[in-house]
Parts: sequence; C-alpha cells; structure tokens
Amino acid sequence: MEDLKGKVAFITGAASGIGLGIAKACGRAGMKVIIADVRQNAIDEVLPFFKERDWPVHGIKLDVTDREDYVRAADEAESVFGKIHVLINNAGVEAPMGPLWKSSLKDCDFIVGVNIMGVLNGIITILPRILAHGEGGHIVSTSSQSGLSVVPGASLYCMTKAAVMGLMETLASDLKGTNVGASVFCPGPVMGNLSATSKEVRPEHLRDREESEQAPPPPPPADGSNRPKFDFSNLFMPAEEAGERVVRGIRRGDLYILTHTEFKEGVRAKADAILRAFPDQPINEDFKRMFSFLTYNPIYDTQTTPGAPDWD
Ligand SMILES: NC(=O)c1ccc[n+]([C@@H]2O[C@H](COP(=O)([O-])OP(=O)(O)OC[C@H]3O[C@@H](n4cnc5c(N)ncnc54)[C@H](O)[C@@H]3O)[C@@H](O)[C@H]2O)c1
Repeated sequence: MEDLKGKVAFITGAASGIGLGIAKACGRAGMKVIIADVRQNAIDEVLPFFKERDWPVHGIKLDVTDREDYVRAADEAESVFGKIHVLINNAGVEAPMGPLWKSSLKDCDFIVGVNIMGVLNGIITILPRILAHGEGGHIVSTSSQSGLSVVPGASLYCMTKAAVMGLMETLASDLKGTNVGASVFCPGPVMGNLSATSKEVRPEHLRDREESEQAPPPPPPADGSNRPKFDFSNLFMPAEEAGERVVRGIRRGDLYILTHTEFKEGVRAKADAILRAFPDQPINEDFKRMFSFLTYNPIYDTQTTPGAPDWD
C-alpha cells in the first residue's frame, strides 16, 4: 500500500511505546490516526503531540479483549474519519518470567486474552470493513522477535507471539489477490513501558493470582566471561524508529517487519534444527503434487526485500 496520505490508521496500544511510535510515523506520513488504548489518561497525554502538528487524530478508549467495545470503537472511528484503511494490532502485555508450570491460570487467561484474542478481535471486527470499502488497506500485528525464536522462561509470552506470527502469515496468504496486505512486526528490544502498563491494565477479576516465579538470573555468557556491567538502555531502539520501519513495511507490502540483525543467527539456528529433524528418506512425488497446498506456501517468496534502514 504505497499511498498512505489521507488514509486512516487504527492503532491499538497506541498511547505508549511502540504503538505511539507507529502512530507518530503514520502522522508523519500524512495519515489520519486513531489512538486506541485501554488507558484513557495515557490517550489524553499523547493527543497534544498530534494536535500541535495539525496531524488529524482521534483517541478512543478500547479494551481489545472486549468484542462489543471493539465494534463500538470501529463505528466511532468510521464516524470521525469515514473509513479505516490500516489496522495495527499492537496492544500487548508481558508475562511473568519463569517456568510455565509455575504460572497461574489467571495469568494465562489475561495474557492470551490480550495478546491473541485481542488481535483476532481486531481483525474480525475491522478487516471486513476494509475489504468492503474497496480502497485498499493493510493489517499489521505486533508479534515479537520471541515469536520467531523463543526465550527461556518466557513460554507464555513466546506462545502468544508465535500464535500472532502464524496468524499473520496465514492471513497474508488468504488476502492474496485482494488490495489489502498483511505484515507481522517482530521487534527486538524497543523503548516502551510494557512492564508497567501490563500491571496497570490487568483487570480486577484476574488480579488475585499467586505470584508467578520471578525470573531466574540470565545464564552467564557461553564463553564463561562475566557479563559486562553497563546501562544497556541505550541499546533499545527508539519507538519512533520502530514506527518508521512499520510504515515502510506497509508501503512495501513486507510480510515480515524486523528491527535487529543480531537475532538472525538464532533464527537460522532454529530453521536449521527443523531441517535437520526431517526424516532422511526419499520424497514421494505423488504426495508432493497432491498436497502441494500443504507442503509449500508461496507467500514466503513474497518477502524479497531486506530490512535495511534505507529511509535516511
Ligand atoms: N518494547 C519491546 O521491546 C517489545 C519487543 C517485542 C514485542 N513488543 C510488543 O510490542 C507491543 C507494544 O509494547 P510496548 O513495549 O510498546 O509496550 P507499552 O506498554 O509501552 O505499550 C502497550 C500499550 O498497550 C496498551 N494495552 C494493554 N492492554 C490493552 C488492551 N487490553 N486493550 C487496549 N490497549 C491495551 C497499554 O495501555 C499500553 O499503552 C506489545 O504487543 C509487545 O508485546 C515489545
């Protein structure tokens, strides 16, 4: 979707961190922006940034897990800006670190509710509206680098982000031939407030959980050296830069939008491990022909461009 000027972006979790970075990048691209977030106070704090620049903006309080609320929010967005063209499913919560078997089931309900069901609710509520107006559009969902290769002690979080990955790859396949595209955004560390907001937005009925195990200290580096002690916050990508990458990914129709090359080796190790695990036996060509729709998805061939930061 190359021409973004004047188009409408509906962004969830847009009152903080990455969502706000995406909202600013959309504003910079001349889009009209819906800041959808469950925290009204945070929406109120960020709206002036857009208004001061005369960027069209509208805030909507929305809990992405509430389906009726979602329909109302989509109706409100359309009544303000006419149509929705771009949906960014970005709202998310973190999961306590530790082994899964020490997590409470209330944690599971809360985290799956926001990180998976919230994304499904967005797509099922808004995508039919985008397809219906016929002007084209794009859906982006924020997964994570941990949706691509997992982090020890983060099963719940990784599970939800891998679910978003599978969902968006399939959605992109299903949208082929339409004028609506789909991308999955997999950031590495980006400046945001996930720990604080995850505590703040947990609904009352999911609060009285047993405290899940605290994260074990990270394992020492494999080479036995001591982990360097320094403030690593400057290694986090600014949210506005992440937002620019998302906008560029929408323009180019990228299947995957990534942020950090440092994760490449881990992703390759995973792909290699899976390839090694296939039984070493001859291929049945009849099977391959008959089940080609299962064995090979051409959607992966559509990712032709690298993610180099070439917009400067
Ligand atoms: N920051 C990172 O390093 C990083 C890395 C990988 C993936 N992510 C993902 O990026 C997304 C944004 O993370 P962030 O770091 O910017 O966090 P953040 O806390 O700064 O922003 C998240 C926003 O989502 C909102 N939100 C939470 N639950 C909601 C709900 N039910 N309905 C509507 N809004 C809700 C919060 O109010 C908050 O404003 C998340 O999906 C997160 O999992 C973040």
